[in-house]
Amino acid sequence: MNPKAVVTRRPPGITLDALEEIADVWLWEEDRPIERSELADQIRDATGLYSMLTDTVDADLLELAPSLIVISNMAVGVDNIDLGACAQRGIAVGHTPDVLTDSTADIAWMLIMASSRRMQEGIEFVRSGNWGDWHPEGLLGRDIARSTLGIIGMGRIGEAIAARSTGFGMDVLYSSRSRNERVELETGAVRVELAELLARSDHVVVAVPLAPETVHMIGAEELDRMKESANLVNIARGAVVDSDALFEALSKGVIRCAGLDVTDPEPLPSDHRLLTLPNCTVIPHMGSATWETRTAMADLAMANLIAGLTGQAMPHRVPGT
Ligand code: DGY
Repeated sequence: MNPKAVVTRRPPGITLDALEEIADVWLWEEDRPIERSELADQIRDATGLYSMLTDTVDADLLELAPSLIVISNMAVGVDNIDLGACAQRGIAVGHTPDVLTDSTADIAWMLIMASSRRMQEGIEFVRSGNWGDWHPEGLLGRDIARSTLGIIGMGRIGEAIAARSTGFGMDVLYSSRSRNERVELETGAVRVELAELLARSDHVVVAVPLAPETVHMIGAEELDRMKESANLVNIARGAVVDSDALFEALSKGVIRCAGLDVTDPEPLPSDHRLLTLPNCTVIPHMGSATWETRTAMADLAMANLIAGLTGQAMPHRVPGT
């Protein structure tokens, strides 16, 4: 008998053929995240799970799944999965690093520029019919060129963000648990303490994974350390930044502007007070949203799942699981 594999959303750009050769596949066909009750029902006799970042895979869910041996998350971030509970149960967890590095670094840069150069305000200006005579001080932002870029977290994505800065003649600072000599060599980036990075940077990009130690890593105290002219960009996970503190900082002019690809909560309700601020540019978690990247993520997640189900080494297994 084939093992059962639960797939919680149709993966983009690939078929399920390879999986169907080795497993009985149950697919959530609807075009919205799977309901918790449905996942709880289906997981009971499953051996493998192909999950999305919108699925909460916690200890209670795992408790229902005695036969589960592999979870493959179609994301690099695995904060939706209780990794400790997986490790205890011997469940291998796969994820999708590398393939989304470039598209996510591109989104970071899109937000650095859109936020700093007031693109959202400019678009609204045009659309609302307020585009009158040219004004010498109309919609002035701040330069990117020759400014200082601070990157919090120097993993693959942080490194790709730094690499893209070289054409702008920027000084690059980074804070990270470990030193990254390659990025220092290639971009002249300098590792500093977080407090110094916040105080010196014109554009601060948050690129750390969400973990207990990074929840609200950027709160009121950290925002206070930043320059009044600074721009904060978050492409990591919403909860790394304290949304209430950010609202206060943006509305009181503690910092100049922010660009967010991720928010807390997510999705951000359309009546959330952050959305009332002209200096806060918010996009809906689009870091990896290109056809090429999402197809590569789907493919890699499938390879991880099939490897886990057939007793092979996964191309990308989350360390510690
Ligand atoms: C991830 O893979 O964790 C990204 O946030 C998806 O865009």
